[in-house]
Amino acid sequence: MKNTPRLICLLLAAYLPNELLASKYTDSILTKSTAAKGVLRCGKTPLKDAHVWLFRNTTLQDDDILDYVVTGPDGSFSLEGHTGGRPSENMGIKPKLRFFHKCDHTKDSYRAFNFAYNETYTNLGRITRKTFDLGEFNLQLQMPGETTEKKLYEGKPKKFE
Ligand SMILES: *[C@@H]1O[C@H](CO)[C@@H](O)[C@H](O)[C@H]1NC(C)=O
Ligand SMILES: *[C@@H]1O[C@H](CO)[C@@H](O)[C@H](O)[C@H]1NC(C)=O
Repeated sequence: MKNTPRLICLLLAAYLPNELLASKYTDSILTKSTAAKGVLRCGKTPLKDAHVWLFRNTTLQDDDILDYVVTGPDGSFSLEGHTGGRPSENMGIKPKLRFFHKCDHTKDSYRAFNFAYNETYTNLGRITRKTFDLGEFNLQLQMPGETTEKKLYEGKPKKFE
């Protein structure tokens, strides 16, 4: 009798569509995860209301957003995500952060820049084991490739199952 649960599983598996089993298998071997954190400042003041996105690759397409946060009064952000459930060709991670903020900027627009971090801060599987820590970062600094954007970027993380 102690084999009954296993038998039920086997019976269930026999009725699952093959594509579903195949996709779960692909998922388990190709899914990657990453996380990033840091504390944003504007001079000595923690930077509130900065928008930060984590992308799974450097092309920054809307579908590639893994996570998004807006900093609170302490200026800190913490982002994480995995590529589970995505098409297998989109399961890799070349992590990139995007920032929109108004440090030293009074205009009705945002300062924006992107920042890629090393792929060594990614791991296989849905559970994040590596976190890139930006540390304390003063956004008074003009970043390479920085732009001024009239509108807030509105991309949101897309959920895949
Ligand atoms: C990023 O992923 C998209 C698909 O979501 C793909 O079209 C593009 O080629 C990828 N770019 C890089 C640099 O990996
Ligand atoms: C990423 O980190 C690895 C290990 O520390 C290093 O060998 C490699 O050069 C780094 N890559 C980039 C693009 O900085």
